[in-house]
Amino acid sequence: MKFTTLSTLLLLPATALAQSSSAAGGSASAAAPSASASSAAGNSTDYLTAVLGALTGAGLTTLVTAAQGIANTTEGQALLGSLASGNKTVFAPSNQAFSNVSQDTLGDTALLTQILSYHILNNTYTASGVATAPNHTIARTLLRGGNYSLPGNFSAPLVLAKNSTNATSFEIIQTASNTTAGGNATAANLHVYVIDQVLTLPQTLTEALPAVAPQLFGLAGSIPGLADSLASANGLTIFAPTDAAIGAIQSSLGQLNSTQVAAVLSNHVINGTVAYSTRLTSSNYTSAGGEAFTFMSNSTGAYVKSANSTAKIVQSDIILNNGVVHLIDAVLVNTGSNSQAAESAYSSATAAAATSTEADTPVTATSSATGPSGSASGSSGTSAAFKVAPIAFTSSMMGGIIAAAGAIVGGALTLF
Ligand SMILES: *[C@@H]1O[C@H](CO)[C@@H](O)[C@H](O)[C@H]1NC(C)=O
Ligand SMILES: *[C@@H]1O[C@H](CO)[C@@H](O)[C@H](O)[C@H]1NC(C)=O
Ligand SMILES: *[C@@H]1O[C@H](CO)[C@@H](O)[C@H](O)[C@H]1NC(C)=O
Ligand SMILES: *[C@@H]1O[C@H](CO)[C@@H](O)[C@H](O)[C@H]1NC(C)=O
Ligand SMILES: *[C@@H]1O[C@H](CO)[C@@H](O)[C@H](O)[C@H]1NC(C)=O
Ligand SMILES: *[C@@H]1O[C@H](CO)[C@@H](O)[C@H](O)[C@H]1NC(C)=O
Ligand SMILES: *[C@@H]1O[C@H](CO)[C@@H](O)[C@H](O)[C@H]1NC(C)=O
Ligand SMILES: *[C@@H]1O[C@H](CO)[C@@H](O)[C@H](O)[C@H]1NC(C)=O
Ligand SMILES: *[C@@H]1O[C@H](CO)[C@@H](O)[C@H](O)[C@H]1NC(C)=O
Ligand SMILES: *[C@@H]1O[C@H](CO)[C@@H](O)[C@H](O)[C@H]1NC(C)=O
Ligand SMILES: *[C@@H]1O[C@H](CO)[C@@H](O)[C@H](O)[C@H]1NC(C)=O
Ligand SMILES: *[C@@H]1O[C@H](CO)[C@@H](O)[C@H](O)[C@H]1NC(C)=O
Repeated sequence: MKFTTLSTLLLLPATALAQSSSAAGGSASAAAPSASASSAAGNSTDYLTAVLGALTGAGLTTLVTAAQGIANTTEGQALLGSLASGNKTVFAPSNQAFSNVSQDTLGDTALLTQILSYHILNNTYTASGVATAPNHTIARTLLRGGNYSLPGNFSAPLVLAKNSTNATSFEIIQTASNTTAGGNATAANLHVYVIDQVLTLPQTLTEALPAVAPQLFGLAGSIPGLADSLASANGLTIFAPTDAAIGAIQSSLGQLNSTQVAAVLSNHVINGTVAYSTRLTSSNYTSAGGEAFTFMSNSTGAYVKSANSTAKIVQSDIILNNGVVHLIDAVLVNTGSNSQAAESAYSSATAAAATSTEADTPVTATSSATGPSGSASGSSGTSAAFKVAPIAFTSSMMGGIIAAAGAIVGGALTLF
């Protein structure tokens, strides 16, 4: 059975893969590795062998072990199987990066599968196509399902930005810390970047909000049921006033009764819609309190308005498992409430998500994605922000992947 063949293969020790790769790659006249030997009839087993061999050859042995560790589960097989179809970007944590991850996590195959899924983007992304800060590119990963389902079954995204229009590297922006994606290699349909941290999965509201907006979190906790309905929302956007913003109007807030406080908080929320910064262009959103939002941006920044209150967005796109948070510098003091408008906005958001065909942003690679030009881009190695070693795929490793992928990409992928 293919299932057995693949599992057996993936469960080979990484060193065995390394040896077969380097033996094959060591000499130009050596027999081609089995992956490319059977390239005419290349199959997905060959493809994965070649990919893992190339990663091993690049020193990413912990990543390869992690991939092998999920290969005997249904979810893990689905993830590994999906690699071969369409162009993908892989953020490959170094062994050093994995050394900061607990053994408990590495041994939890379900969690490990989610983590690895969150390191793969469903398209090709290079620095040239990534937005320049403070703008962001919202890139869809392969992480979806379970606790990570977004409306329309969209997958959880990563937030990318580069520092200047002509930068040769870009950052993966996360609350805890940013990660630079510098050196990269293109292997058939995979664009691989080595990164020096394992990326953090999207947090729940209860995990994320106390860190970025503790006062707001406390205020929300004072309204019965609010925190639960936010945490369980299928699609959520929160404009979260910073502590300083809440402190600035503490005395006025103190004069509001709890109904009014609940209304004000609801007017900081979009229910059923995940409005990343890239979508805050039209004035097309209604709050969970049924009040209209207005958005504007100019050279000083991006702003959100509700009734007569305007706030500046000071940090956008903090990714939650069920939505997104944007930090704002003022409280939107709107005690208005229109439950009918709120329900109608929620229904149309839900209906729109169900039929949405929104694609992620395809970014054309700046160099040919075909051909065994396996050397990593050297230019970005000189950047001060460059924190990771360039990948050194040998051309025969690349040849193996390309040969195997060549037979698969475009054809039906019948892995399992
Ligand atoms: C796929 O490739 C492997 C390794 O070359 C080989 O053992 C297997 O028979 C192939 N399977 C098919 C269906 O071609
Ligand atoms: C997968 O393999 C690991 C390590 O060999 C083992 O601990 C785990 O129980 C296996 N899981 C399944 C679903 O077979
Ligand atoms: C993958 O990328 C290559 C090179 O940029 C492009 O020619 C090809 O059309 C892409 N394939 C898909 C399925 O997008
Ligand atoms: C990747 O993108 C393609 C094209 O947009 C889509 O058909 C496919 O479902 C996506 N795959 C995943 C795993 O998200
Ligand atoms: C990736 O590779 C391409 C082509 O080699 C290069 O132009 C680009 O600057 C590299 N780095 C990033 C972060 O895209
Ligand atoms: C950010 O996006 C806005 C709207 O598309 C654009 O006007 C602005 O020039 C962009 N800023 C940068 C630094 O690219
Ligand atoms: C890249 O941008 C910087 C400023 O952001 C500029 O000094 C430099 O000359 C630019 N380089 C190229 C090659 O355009
Ligand atoms: C991450 O990058 C963004 C945009 O460049 C920046 O505003 C933020 O301060 C950075 N975060 C960390 C923790 O370095
Ligand atoms: C979102 O709308 C649904 C349906 O009207 C409602 O049950 C839920 O409580 C709302 N959630 C929030 C956070 O307003
Ligand atoms: C809160 O204050 C508003 C406005 O003064 C009033 O209409 C409402 O009845 C009050 N609600 C409660 C529960 O006291
Ligand atoms: C406004 O929202 C509705 C419902 O979510 C959607 O169908 C429509 O395309 C949006 N219009 C704009 C201009 O974004
Ligand atoms: C962007 O700038 C920040 C702050 O100067 C720096 O820490 C980071 O490494 C830079 N990132 C890239 C990709 O150049």
